[in-house]
Amino acid sequence: MCGIVGYIGGSQAAPILLESLEKLEYRGYDSAGVAVYNKNAIEFAKSKGRLVNLKEKTNNGEDLKGIVGIGHTRWATHGEPSDLNAHPHLSSSGRFAVVHNGIIENYISLKKKLCDKGFEFISETDTEVIAHLFEYYYKGDIMDTIIKVIDRVEGSYALGVLCSDYPDRFFAVRKSSPMIVGLGDGENFISSDVAAIIKHTRDIYYLEDNEIVVLKADGVKVYNTDKEEVKKEVSKVTWDIDAAEKGGYEHFMMKEIEEQPTALEKTISPRIKDGKIVLDDISLTTEDIKKIRKIYIIACGSAYHVGVVAKYVIEKMCRISVETQVASEFRYCDPIVGANDLVIAISQSGETADTLAALKEAKNHGARILSIVNVVGSAIANASDDVLYTWAGPEIAVATTKAYSTQLSVIYLLATYMADKLGLLTSGEYAKLIRDLQELPAKVAEVLENKDKIQYLASKFFNCHSIFFIGRNLDYAVALEGSLKLKEISYIHSEAYAAGELKHGTISLIEDGTLVIAIATNNDLFDKTVSNAKEVKARGAVVMGIATEKNDMSEVADYEIKIPDTSDILLPSLTVIPLQMFGYYVASNKGCDIDKPRNLAKSVTVE
Ligand code: F6R
Repeated sequence: MCGIVGYIGGSQAAPILLESLEKLEYRGYDSAGVAVYNKNAIEFAKSKGRLVNLKEKTNNGEDLKGIVGIGHTRWATHGEPSDLNAHPHLSSSGRFAVVHNGIIENYISLKKKLCDKGFEFISETDTEVIAHLFEYYYKGDIMDTIIKVIDRVEGSYALGVLCSDYPDRFFAVRKSSPMIVGLGDGENFISSDVAAIIKHTRDIYYLEDNEIVVLKADGVKVYNTDKEEVKKEVSKVTWDIDAAEKGGYEHFMMKEIEEQPTALEKTISPRIKDGKIVLDDISLTTEDIKKIRKIYIIACGSAYHVGVVAKYVIEKMCRISVETQVASEFRYCDPIVGANDLVIAISQSGETADTLAALKEAKNHGARILSIVNVVGSAIANASDDVLYTWAGPEIAVATTKAYSTQLSVIYLLATYMADKLGLLTSGEYAKLIRDLQELPAKVAEVLENKDKIQYLASKFFNCHSIFFIGRNLDYAVALEGSLKLKEISYIHSEAYAAGELKHGTISLIEDGTLVIAIATNNDLFDKTVSNAKEVKARGAVVMGIATEKNDMSEVADYEIKIPDTSDILLPSLTVIPLQMFGYYVASNKGCDIDKPRNLAKSVTVE
């Protein structure tokens, strides 16, 4: 939820830390801080609000001297956004400074214990207990202290730690929260993700839980909790530095919307060889597929919406029962899941706390876990039996677009693969699906050309108080995503409904001029959805229709958006594009902070 960075090398640390924090601001943006070691002591600066405030306060970091430091950008969980609650947190003596991403679940009992011992707390955060625990356990050996501290705290953490007794190094450790180590030339880094340090290095260590890292300018050593050195493999980051830059776009979100054809190509094409789907990356055999009793899909937010698409697609193609559940519900519902079930966890970040916990719950029941993840080496990927990576590249905008699209494409690949193994597709059907999958990136590019029309429609409707999305079957699944995209970035109230369900209550909300976006791309259900659109129109709604080229909604729609035709199951990939653009342009017309919508953060590592 928060972003952490650390630097040690030959340059002044604070400007580098601030520049890196800029790349992590998507993870949290309500306050920020840095601490450096300078003149025999730890100095720090913190500021409520966006990073720009901290930059101003420190003259872009120039005012904080020193060549070793740690930094943090916060998304508040314990205590309101304020200078005091911002990280780094210092121990009472000022010997330790700590930045933390995660949640310390037992902080109340630890705080009580420390208060009883005379420690004084100045913030409302859970993190401050870590700074005081360091002080409490420190008897001159920093490794012993780190081991004691991580043994005492429960929950999740990625920690960067400065200790004034060790001016030539800093320390890091993580558990269930992301953190990587960047290996430079005479300088080394920690970061919550690659984007923040790729400018400096492409050589990375991915860390296991509770590996303790000691970073000096000339080298990095990693230890286990028995203080034995662990030999780590260096991983090379292959994606381009431009992937983490705006590249001339006003917002990351539009850049990422436009990157979708490329992201889809990268995700689909390596998995189709000689006209066949090849899923080398997973170990699911035909025998395994035949034995599957039921599939559960667990995810949150937009990734959950991919799961809703997946339910329709997999059930239709594979005739296996699929239950899609919001991960935060699944984890506490005592699920009836077992060894013959396949659980598919979907997550862009690979670190969403609820999805990870739901996955672990399923694993405890003996289920096999296949995850669809965008971030290599993330906690969800590491905890899964099999991983199908989406190759969307880094997604920075809080509202997901290209990750959602690539997740859908992996679902199509998986469903087609399984249906083929189960003997449920004729060779003709299989060949058509492969052809349409290969053409999908180009068709998405074609839909993206409709930008001007969507921009025009957004300029007409950006003042609406409420917007409804309706559809049936796969169109309903996409309606859910269209509605979320709109509301999360434009703050317009919106609901998505199965078109046939409106008349059971929600239709009473329709009044003169209410915008209803009716998605009717499904051929078999086209007439049914048009009838539902007529029902709302009769009650004063303005209807915006979305249909394929072969269907005509003009008898009911005041405005119509056309998408190209393709295999039925692939249509969500095309339908969602105008909805993403509509949300974007509505938010843009309203002057909203599109990449960093209020109250949200990109990755949700709290329950
Ligand atoms: C919405 C959005 C969120 C995420 C959700 C899950 O635009 O991005 O709803 O889809 O928080 O995140 P991941 O996919 O990282 O598990």
